[in-house]
Parts: sequence; structure tokens; C-alpha cells
Amino acid sequence: MPKLLFLFFVFFFVCEHHASTGFTRQPSRPLIFTPHNRPNSHPQQVHVSLVGNNYMKVSWVTDGNGVPSTVEYGKIPAKYESLATGEHTSYHYFSYRSGNIHHVTIGPLDPATTYYYRCGGIGPEFNFRMPPATYPIEFAVAGDLGQTEWTSSTLEHINARDYDILLLPGDLSYADTQQPLWDSFGRLVEPYASRRPWMVTEGNHEQEAFPIIYPKGYKAYNSRWPMPYRESGSESNLYYSFDAVGTHIIMLGSYADFSIGSDQYKWLANDLAKIDRLRTPWVVVILHAPWYNSNLAHQGEGESMRVAIEEMLYNSRVDVVFAGHVHAYERFTRVYNNNADPCGPMHITIGDGGNREGLAMLYKEPTPSISLYREASFGHGRLRILNDTHAHWSWNRNDDSVSVVADGIWLKSLSSSSLCFPQIQPKTDLTYEKDEL
Ligand SMILES: *[C@@H]1O[C@H](CO)[C@@H](O)[C@H](O)[C@H]1NC(C)=O
Ligand SMILES: [Fe+2]
Repeated sequence: MPKLLFLFFVFFFVCEHHASTGFTRQPSRPLIFTPHNRPNSHPQQVHVSLVGNNYMKVSWVTDGNGVPSTVEYGKIPAKYESLATGEHTSYHYFSYRSGNIHHVTIGPLDPATTYYYRCGGIGPEFNFRMPPATYPIEFAVAGDLGQTEWTSSTLEHINARDYDILLLPGDLSYADTQQPLWDSFGRLVEPYASRRPWMVTEGNHEQEAFPIIYPKGYKAYNSRWPMPYRESGSESNLYYSFDAVGTHIIMLGSYADFSIGSDQYKWLANDLAKIDRLRTPWVVVILHAPWYNSNLAHQGEGESMRVAIEEMLYNSRVDVVFAGHVHAYERFTRVYNNNADPCGPMHITIGDGGNREGLAMLYKEPTPSISLYREASFGHGRLRILNDTHAHWSWNRNDDSVSVVADGIWLKSLSSSSLCFPQIQPKTDLTYEKDEL
């Protein structure tokens, strides 16, 4: 049996065995393998991610050598006023050797402006729109994507309504050591990820560690999806932060050491200390394994991280924590230390992007009082930040037409609460209205 196939079965057995012990899942839909249908040497798997406030990193893959790591770009289709040069890398994973993976940072760029670009001087033109410099800003949030027909459905729903930035709380390709599936995933998401920045953090499916040979893992993930970690003072692609219009977004690593005194812990403490709530009144945290979860799937897996880090987030008045991992949707009230708390973050599990493992259908009964909405359906979320004080969160089920919002709630920023944030001048008082947290 070929080595890769063998590895796949080992991995599959581990995952499925785990799955069969705690919960059953709705049938998943078939995997889509997305072929490379351009000339062999042409750029493929194009995606973009933010680097600082006015730069964008363009990432793409070519099969052979000979295509330079350049990006031509401009504000008018096919008229490229600017050219930037970056670098390329590649990696081995057992018998697999990746193509050249190019990363080119372009800018400075204007906010809310569409740029047309071409990679390596060859192949099709793409375009993306920079996020705005002023409110409102809309984040699409989708975790545990994978590459099945459900994934396609989720991506189509995301694309059907405008948004500025996609936030992905881990578990991208579900390649699970089968490296060609990373390429297939890159091609599946290209129509979306080449048009809007995709900001991701890692899930367990990104690890792909193997004892002795690849003990650290993340070979594919770090080579293909480098995020702006150095810009935020992090030494690891597994955790970083960035800003977008009044919002400080912290991407944490559920699978990087988070214990007290670890690099991630110290980095996070520093990052939180530097937040200026007058400049970024909103603070959003993204991680993979949920700290609050009333689904029977993955019970307790986020607990050690919660114990290590929750107090820090609470003291910093983080507004929202998004997690993935559990293949379902769940929204909690504001919580701290397992209790409802008006100054704690709202916790949301949004791991229902559509991967091959299917949905996590079984829940703890009765529903804990802090869990306000839970449902095992595929879908994605939207966080629309309207101004310094108000944001709207919605969950959009794939089964529904795009205009239907299955769950929605208004949020007030904790920085505007005199109860939770007496140190800065309150802009409004924290008063509760119906459907508002
Ligand atoms: C912020 O947006 C909310 C919702 O649209 C609105 O009710 C509120 O008046 C706005 N606040 C300011 C200061 O504009
Ligand atoms: Fe996961």
C-alpha cells in the first residue's frame, strides 16, 4: 500500500474512532476534488490576506519553475501601474513535493478600493477590494470548511452578500496529510479568497504532525497560509492579531502552547495591553476549540485553554470569542468562568462550514442557561460593526435562502459600558434592550 494512503487510513481511523465514541453525525456530502484546469505553469490557488492597514499579501502556486514571484496591480482592469516582487517557498511531505508557493505583498493601497491584479505576469486577472477605513465593516465568519458540496454551498452563501473580510476559526482543507487536497482546497476557494482577504487561524486538521519526521507539523499550513504574525509581534504563524476599522482581532492558537508563561501567553498579554479602546473600541478573539460548548462533540477540549487564558480576556473586556471545531452553531450569552456576566465576551461556535465529517447532532440536555441558541446545521456568520457602540451578529443557515437570518442579535461594545469599562469615558450606558447583549 502506498505510504500516503496508509497514513491516510491511520489518520482516518483515529478521527472516526474518536467520532464514533461520543456522537453521531448527519451524513456528509461528497468531497469535491477541484482540478487544475489552467495551463500547467499558470498561477493557481490565488488568495489574499491583510498585512498591516494598507498592504495585501497575494499568495499563489505554480507547478514549475520559471514564473517569477511578481504581482502587477492597479485600479483599472488590465492596466497595471504597479509591480511588486516577493518570494516563493516549497515543501516536502513524505513523497509529496509542493509547487512553488509565492507570497507577494503589495501596497500601500487605498481603503475600500478595488484592485485588479495578475500573478507572475501570466494567466488570468483577479481583483480584490480593500476593507474600508470607516464604519460599517462586515466580517463573514466560517469555520471547519473542508471541501465538500456543503463547503461549496457555504461559500456560495457567503459570496451572495457583500462582506469585507473573512475570518476562519480553523480547519481549512481537511487534507489530513493527503497533500494534493491542500492544492484542491486552494483551487476550490480561489474565486472567493482572491476577492476578499481571508484571515485564518489553525485547527487540529492543520497540524499534520508525524512523530520524528515532522514533529512540529503545520508544514502545509505555514507554507500556504502565512498570516501577518511578525507585524503583531508574534514569532509564530499560529497566533497573531490585526486591526480593521475600530476592531482589534486576535487570532489565537488552540494547538500552540498557551500555558501561563508560554510564548503565546506572553504575546497575548502584551497584545491586550497595547489595545487602545478609543481607536479600536471592539475586540474580537478567534480560536479553534471552543471554551463554551453544550454539544456532546469535543466536550472539554477547550477547557485547559479557558482555564489559562479566560481571565486575561475578561479583564481586557473582549467583546466576542468565535470558535470552530464543533460542527454546529451555538451562541452563548456574555460569560465569564461558566456564569453569565455582563462584562464577559459573547461566545459563539461557528464550526459548521461543511466538511466531510458531517454535523455534530447531539447536545447536552437540558440546555445550559448560558446557551441561548444551538443548532446543528451548516452555515456561516456575519459580524457587522456599525459604529463604536453597535454591531449586529447573524447566523445564516445554508438551507435557507440567503436573505433569511436564522439567528441574530445586536451587540453593544463593552468599551461603551460604564459598568464594564469605567476607565474610559462612556459614550452610552449599558442598557439592555430586547434582543441585545
Ligand atoms: C450606532 O448604530 C446604531 C445602530 O444602527 C444606532 O442606533 C446608533 O444611534 C449609532 N450610534 C451612533 C453614535 O451613531
Ligand atoms: Fe477541529
